[in-house]
Amino acid sequence: MSKVAIVTGSGRGIGRSIALRLAKDGFDVVVNARNPKNAEKVAKEIEAIGQTSIAIAGDVSNEKDINNIFEETVKKFGKLDVLVANAGICIVKSAIETTPDDIDKIFSINFKGTFLADIAAAKQMKKQDTLGKIINCSSIAGHSGFGYLAAYSGTKFAVRGLTQALAAELAPKITVNAYCPGIVDTDMWKEIDESLAPYLGVEKGQAFTQYSKQILMGRPQKPEDVADLVSFLASPNSDYITGQAFISDGGIVMN
Ligand SMILES: NC(=O)c1ccc[n+]([C@@H]2O[C@H](COP(=O)([O-])OP(=O)(O)OC[C@H]3O[C@@H](n4cnc5c(N)ncnc54)[C@H](O)[C@@H]3O)[C@@H](O)[C@H]2O)c1
Repeated sequence: MSKVAIVTGSGRGIGRSIALRLAKDGFDVVVNARNPKNAEKVAKEIEAIGQTSIAIAGDVSNEKDINNIFEETVKKFGKLDVLVANAGICIVKSAIETTPDDIDKIFSINFKGTFLADIAAAKQMKKQDTLGKIINCSSIAGHSGFGYLAAYSGTKFAVRGLTQALAAELAPKITVNAYCPGIVDTDMWKEIDESLAPYLGVEKGQAFTQYSKQILMGRPQKPEDVADLVSFLASPNSDYITGQAFISDGGIVMN
């Protein structure tokens, strides 16, 4: 019987890549995205790999939507082995231009959305007699503050704090870890580039290029690089690891 994973925000980008990789690893996968069409497209890609998948549209910052995702998962598969709380947004603004609404919006998705998904997963995993795995999405911006990303950095540091606190509370029944991508070539970075380039005084499209120059591994990061790490965190090879936040960035931030 296949293990079951939920990946939030998996209609595109890093989440999609993780969902496909977990399917290749033998998981049945629940694909969640705000846009139902995107979720259904990825669910079909997973079925083509040979695993079962369902698409559930929903906003992770909404408790009713979160409850629906977990209820539908258990109704369909009867269990949950892994949660990947991947959904997130970015806001690029100088700190002094950032508004209270910006702060509320980004914390409601990146932090509250992750927290709500984690506790819904924990409630289900505690009922089971197998080891549960909760895997949260932080960032290099959750290890080091980046200019023009103050609110975003705050949310990603908060996700690391949440990861440690839940690891302490849920052991030894559930492991809780985080993955911290670097500068990944996704639609999110296209949006970041649009807003960041003027602050850096470079042409639009050049912020990504400029930031990617720091990558020691000498090439821009792909979503699949992140999926490799999450595959490990979802596998039995990481059963003895909890409370950690692993960077996969090709060597930008070292600590
Ligand atoms: N791209 C990067 O360089 C980078 C670096 C570090 C961390 N991250 C993090 O990785 C995760 C994925 O980023 P990405 O680059 O693939 O972004 P993306 O914008 O390409 O994809 C994000 C996905 O999350 C979904 N999403 C957003 N808000 C949601 C909500 N409220 N409810 C449900 N789904 C929601 C979107 O619909 C989309 O499918 C995010 O948490 C992001 O902060 C990205």
